[in-house]
Amino acid sequence: MAFTSIDLTPRIGAEIRADRATLLGGSQGAEIRRILEERGVVIFRAIDFNDEEQLAFSATIGDVIPQGEKGVFKVTMDKKENKLADYLLGAVHWHIDGSMDDAPTRASLLSARRLAPTGGQTEFANTYAAWDDLPESEKRSLEKLKVVHTMEAMQRLVYPDPTPEQLQGWASYAPKVHPLVWTHQSGRRSLVLGSSATTIEGMDETAGRALIAELMQWATKPEFVYRHEWTLGDLLIWDNTGTMHRVLPYPMDCGRMMHRTTLVAEEMLV
Ligand SMILES: [Fe+2]
Repeated sequence: MAFTSIDLTPRIGAEIRADRATLLGGSQGAEIRRILEERGVVIFRAIDFNDEEQLAFSATIGDVIPQGEKGVFKVTMDKKENKLADYLLGAVHWHIDGSMDDAPTRASLLSARRLAPTGGQTEFANTYAAWDDLPESEKRSLEKLKVVHTMEAMQRLVYPDPTPEQLQGWASYAPKVHPLVWTHQSGRRSLVLGSSATTIEGMDETAGRALIAELMQWATKPEFVYRHEWTLGDLLIWDNTGTMHRVLPYPMDCGRMMHRTTLVAEEMLV
């Protein structure tokens, strides 16, 4: 089968059609990386990789972070399968993975192993496009701003009435200050937002929160967003440095199971 790429929406997402052997062979790794950076999200419908195949394919795109069981992390709300299930509740809010780190992970690959009966779609917003489309005057006023990210901001969305112990736990993560605008090594620029973004350095707190809320609304408007409706065996890659993502709510006890592999960060957020 030939290797073909089809855009899913004008501003974000591509579907790649290729046979399993071509993908696992690695000859298209560089081309997939190119499409990923350009389109933010790449999907392979019902490719049905098992864990070994997903790991092997991931390694053709970048360096895989060893995590979870043999390199594969189970994304599920089932606590028997994943002790960190509670922590995943925050994933229904727009975020970048690793937004409290100096260098967010490069990309993640997610495959659908058991579907939710309702909900469970994953949405991605292209933060390169969100920057590119801002009026020039606004770009000039935003480009030097720095945003404070905290664990508390992220967790309060899930636990609006925290216990003192929760507050103490969240406070053990030092706040992280990131530029609002990430200038990548490629020279392209993207907005850095998400549920951990709380205030703007040097700006009145209320005004800073309002600006973040306004930019979140802008960056997640429908034209920048791709919503993936999962079918069993789908594999999806997202560029974690140029997109935000979230999952739509689904029944907690339904057994939805996704297997994730993650690629190491390749550049600092500057
Ligand atoms: Fe995530």
